[in-house]
Amino acid sequence: MKPDFLPLTRPSIDEETIADVAAVLRSGWITSGPKVLAFETALSDYCGGRPVRVFNSGTATLEIALRLAGVGAGDTVITTPMTWVATANVILEVGALPIFVDVDPLTRNIDLARLESAIKPSTKAIIPVDLAGLPVDRDCLYAIATKHQLRVVEDAAQSFGASWNGQAIGRDGDFISFSFHANKNLTTAEGGALVLPADIDPALCERYRLQGVKRFPDGTMDVDVLGGKFNLTDVAASIGLGQLKHLEAFTTRRRQLARRYFDGIDPTLGLELPPADFTNSNWHMFQVLLPAGTNRVQVIAGMKELGIGVGVHYPALHLFALYRGLGFKSGDFPNAERIGETTLTLPLFPAMADADVDRVGAALSAVLVS
Ligand SMILES: Cc1ncc(COP(=O)(O)O)c(C=O)c1O
Repeated sequence: MKPDFLPLTRPSIDEETIADVAAVLRSGWITSGPKVLAFETALSDYCGGRPVRVFNSGTATLEIALRLAGVGAGDTVITTPMTWVATANVILEVGALPIFVDVDPLTRNIDLARLESAIKPSTKAIIPVDLAGLPVDRDCLYAIATKHQLRVVEDAAQSFGASWNGQAIGRDGDFISFSFHANKNLTTAEGGALVLPADIDPALCERYRLQGVKRFPDGTMDVDVLGGKFNLTDVAASIGLGQLKHLEAFTTRRRQLARRYFDGIDPTLGLELPPADFTNSNWHMFQVLLPAGTNRVQVIAGMKELGIGVGVHYPALHLFALYRGLGFKSGDFPNAERIGETTLTLPLFPAMADADVDRVGAALSAVLVS
């Protein structure tokens, strides 16, 4: 008998959350309402009391953070080419241009040692990305941002539950953007949250979130900024509230599973493992780099044949046609390109059993040795 298919990831939604979602659906109020407010309050508590507003995606949170930071036409924003393309797309969306800085080959995050030399007079902001949930060095990042008076929009889409200097990501820093997409450590099916800095008016953030509408006590309204349609529903917020109760347990379990990968993967396979960080990272993903010359398409097919889902996160984004069209080309960011060509994401989600990790390790040995 073939073993069950082991997916790359799967959300853990408990029965209480499912009942809460059903209650929202029966309540007669299913879009943004009391659950959204409750979710924002819970997230704000998690972020040490900072203002938090929720959105219908982590892409929307990034875009609105850039608008709130005053980034627009003629500006440049520094980011990494090793991320989901949303990170750079939002820069173009607000009319600015991305400047990519190659990644550190060990952390696979933006190489902060190269960041300062990439800053131009037009540079307004930096978007660091915590790839796989491993935080970018916040001390070094903010030292550079403060020195050059740059805004920071932390793309913490993957690092909800991670920490830096013992503080949860989201408690410190400028703008912090989270995604609650289905594969994230905490999900609302689709959704995101933006933690705001003290100099930004949360009411303005709300207007960008919903068509720029400003309502007055006498029932009249006005529109003073170009907002979009980015509000989260109460259905989604009730999933998020249910998920928050498990965040610590989710992170603990992910760390245990990651440790088991380190212990279980055969070192003679020549795979490059991620940094063994069990303090800061929330282990959103476990990614190995295949030895040079390995045919990744065949490896993915071989793993699938053995009933295991694996993924590629991500091809270096400056090589997508849209970005090539802006002048970026092969050879610009060699570390990101090498990672993009060899990276393989292994299954990792809290409901996985220890035996699942062992099965993935054995399958890798079978597929890579054959
Ligand atoms: C690093 C990163 N940035 C941004 C996003 C966008 O988030 P969303 O899918 O919620 O729009 C994602 C989602 O995968 C991501 O991984």
